[in-house]
Amino acid sequence: MGRKKAPLPRRPVAVPTVIANWKMQLSIREATRLAQAIRDGARSLPAPVQIVLCPTFPALPSVRDVLRGSGIALGAQDAFWDERGPFTGAVSPSTLAEAGCQYVILGHSERRRFAHEDDEAVSKKVSAALRRHLTPILCVGETLDDRRAGHQERIVTEQVVRALAFSPPPATGQRLCIAYEPVWAIGTGQAIEPEQALTMAKVIHQALVDLFAHPGSEIGTRPRNVKILYGGSVDAENVVQFISGTITHGVLVGTASLDERRFLTLLHAVARNAAAT
Ligand code: PGA
Repeated sequence: MGRKKAPLPRRPVAVPTVIANWKMQLSIREATRLAQAIRDGARSLPAPVQIVLCPTFPALPSVRDVLRGSGIALGAQDAFWDERGPFTGAVSPSTLAEAGCQYVILGHSERRRFAHEDDEAVSKKVSAALRRHLTPILCVGETLDDRRAGHQERIVTEQVVRALAFSPPPATGQRLCIAYEPVWAIGTGQAIEPEQALTMAKVIHQALVDLFAHPGSEIGTRPRNVKILYGGSVDAENVVQFISGTITHGVLVGTASLDERRFLTLLHAVARNAAAT
């Protein structure tokens, strides 16, 4: 019995998602000003783009106020897996929802590296976020050593499978984003080749099919409410290469989201591409 091969999904191209990960790069005042500029500049986009801004925790309330009514969503950069308790420094998914977040980045390689988060922690966080109807932006990706050894497909498949181990397929009303971010392309200014991103998006697609296929589900399908994104040195010049096709549905942007002109140029490129397809 061989593995089911997932055919490429044949469904209308969804509204592209562009997520800004501001990391620990901006003060509250800078984040608020940047959110205002993005909100104002995004009004003239030629097609809908789901924009998500992820500031540092203390900037969430002021950025939320700026975004109110704009259609731009608010996201956090991490969440804990429990709702309440003696967890100094942690922030619960329900508190994030109360603060106005709709999205939360989980398992980013910087947290895996600096905060020693492993797949088990990431998995508990994903299911806690889904329970609170936050959309997890689950980050997966191999290191340069993994890639040099040719292990990227196995590593990424394992990360996806382990991160979703405790989660049933996202139910109606729940959504999940999986961002493929090769660690060696983050913050380097050197994005990977679009074909490499597409190959890995297909690997993630197949992992989802294998995970969530169950009796009664259509063979070769994955939940409709799961989007696959690419991240790692995305900018206005290269973004369109990463969102064409029906497998990748958007991008996760760090450095190029920190400057209003750069980010708005990127958003316009995404919207123009969406308008043309
Ligand atoms: P980058 O960061 O765009 O600066 O590479 C992406 C990320 O870390 O999510």
